[in-house]
Amino acid sequence: MSWRKQSILSAQQFTPTDLAEILEMSRALEAMLRTRRNLKLLDDYILATLFFEPSTRTRLSFEAAMHRLGGRVISTTGVQFSSLAKGETLFDTLKMVESYSDICAIRHSVEGASTLAARSIKIPVINAGDGAGEHPTQGLLDLYTIHKRGYLTNDKLSIAFVGDIRYGRTIHSLLQLLSHYKVQMTFISPPELALPDKYRRLLDAAHVAWQETTDIAALREANVGYVTRIQEERFTDRAEYERFKDAYIIDLELVNSCRKDLIVMHPLPRLSEVATDLDNHPAAVYFEQAHNGLYVRMALILGLLDVPLP
Ligand code: CP
Repeated sequence: MSWRKQSILSAQQFTPTDLAEILEMSRALEAMLRTRRNLKLLDDYILATLFFEPSTRTRLSFEAAMHRLGGRVISTTGVQFSSLAKGETLFDTLKMVESYSDICAIRHSVEGASTLAARSIKIPVINAGDGAGEHPTQGLLDLYTIHKRGYLTNDKLSIAFVGDIRYGRTIHSLLQLLSHYKVQMTFISPPELALPDKYRRLLDAAHVAWQETTDIAALREANVGYVTRIQEERFTDRAEYERFKDAYIIDLELVNSCRKDLIVMHPLPRLSEVATDLDNHPAAVYFEQAHNGLYVRMALILGLLDVPLP
């Protein structure tokens, strides 16, 4: 079954054919937006964004994507500003969203919340981040960023994931997408924040070459460094977060000791793990990466609504 007209719940649902189509649609939309500010393709459609956890990039880029396609947006942000705060169930909230909109993007602190949402309503649901679970549309924009740099067709793609591998939902999605390509993965984290068993099994089943280490020196072997914030909001023990929060700092000095073709990615927001002295270095692609979310999310909205590109 094609990804079109479905919900986007997990990176696992995409086939290599789906990914090739999404990458090509994103590229075409990026080209179109160089000469036109609004494609006016979705005049009759409404996107609902329901963000029950904080967000800047995901919510704004989904909303900007819908506006650039000529559609309309309704939104609620934060539990306290929806009737969930008055005790309404998520199911009842979703029934309202279904009656007001054609497609919705949901961010929720509970893993699997978007899957439950998709079972409850008939419009396409997009998982915009579910707790420590997944963030599949971030994975897709990460994939597009790597693709634009020509690294997906490079048989020697070597990616090092750095930081909070345990709770980093963007990593959980990206590694599944990358498992369809020829790739070598290295996971650099404290042992307590290592890759969950579920994803170890998944990589092994896909015959992906991967290794793990606590040593940041392994970044020197990679041509993609994918750095993540230690996810403070997932820790129940504050002291444990404090112990790990500065575990790895990627700065200019370290990057200058790495491969010349290294790119440094980060889903953002960043704290101290990527030093600002790197921002103007050619390896730093994290702002471009966030910008790419606009094109990828435009492609996804069109596909889910089954509206063709002009
Ligand atoms: N990358 C990402 O999900 O950013 P936001 O939390 O700002 O949406």
